Amino acid sequence: MEKLEMLYEGKAKKVFRTDDPKLYIVDYKDDATAFNGEKKGTIAAKGVVNNTMSAIIFEMLETKGIPTHLVKLLSDRETLVKAVTILPLEVIIRNVAAGSFSKRYGVEEGRPLAKTVLEFSYKDDALGDPLINDDHILALELATEEQLVIVKKYTYAINAALQEFFLDKGLKLIDFKIEFGLCDGEIILADEISPDTCRLWDVKTNEKMDKDRFRRDLGNVESTYQEVLARIKN
Ligand code: TMP
Repeated sequence: MEKLEMLYEGKAKKVFRTDDPKLYIVDYKDDATAFNGEKKGTIAAKGVVNNTMSAIIFEMLETKGIPTHLVKLLSDRETLVKAVTILPLEVIIRNVAAGSFSKRYGVEEGRPLAKTVLEFSYKDDALGDPLINDDHILALELATEEQLVIVKKYTYAINAALQEFFLDKGLKLIDFKIEFGLCDGEIILADEISPDTCRLWDVKTNEKMDKDRFRRDLGNVESTYQEVLARIKN
C-alpha cells in the first residue's frame, strides 16, 4: 500500500490517502508540543515508540471487543488505518487526580478518586480544547445521544483493559485521552494510545513515565519513551 497525497498534518502525525478510499496511512513524527502548541520540541524516536505502542494496544483492545481503526503496522513510523471522520471530542478518563484536573479543582496530584471520572473536551485548538458536557455536545450537535452512549461504554471498557494491561508492565494508568471516529456510520477507536496521551506512573517509584517529562522539563524524556515501549513489548 502506497502513500498518496497528504490529507492532514497534525502536531504529532501526518495522514495520507492511499489508492483505497477506505484506508489511510498515518505517519508518526517526533515533534512534541504542549500547552496547546505554546511549547515546542522534538523527542527523538517518539514517532517510532507511539506508532509501535499504539498498534500493540489497539490489537489488544480488539481482542477485548473494542472496534478500532487499526488495519496493520506498515513500518517503524507508519500504520495502515481505516478512514474515519473524527468526532470533535477528546474523551478523557481519570483514575487518579493529576494535570488539569488537579489544577482546576485544587487537589494534589496522586490523590485517588472516589469515582472514575469521564470528561469530554471539545477538540478545537483555536478555543484551547475547552471542557464540555453531554448537554453541550448534544446542543452543538457534535455527536448524537446514541453515539454518546456507545462512546462512554467503549471508554470505560478501554479503561478497564488498559489498567490491567499497564499494571502487568509495572505502570499505573493515572489518566488518558482517546478519540473516536465514524467509519460506515459505526463508532470506532481512532488516533493513538501512547505516552503522549496517557499518564503512566511507575508502580514502585511513582516516577512519571509519560509526556509530563517533556511538558514539565523533568529530563530523561527519550529514555523514558524507550523504557515504556520496552515494557509494553515484554
Ligand atoms: P490534562 O490533565 O492536561 O487535561 O490531560 C489529561 C490526559 O489527556 C493526560 O493523560 C494527557 C492527555 N492529553 C492529550 O492526550 N492531549 C492533550 O492535548 C492534553 C491537554 C492532554
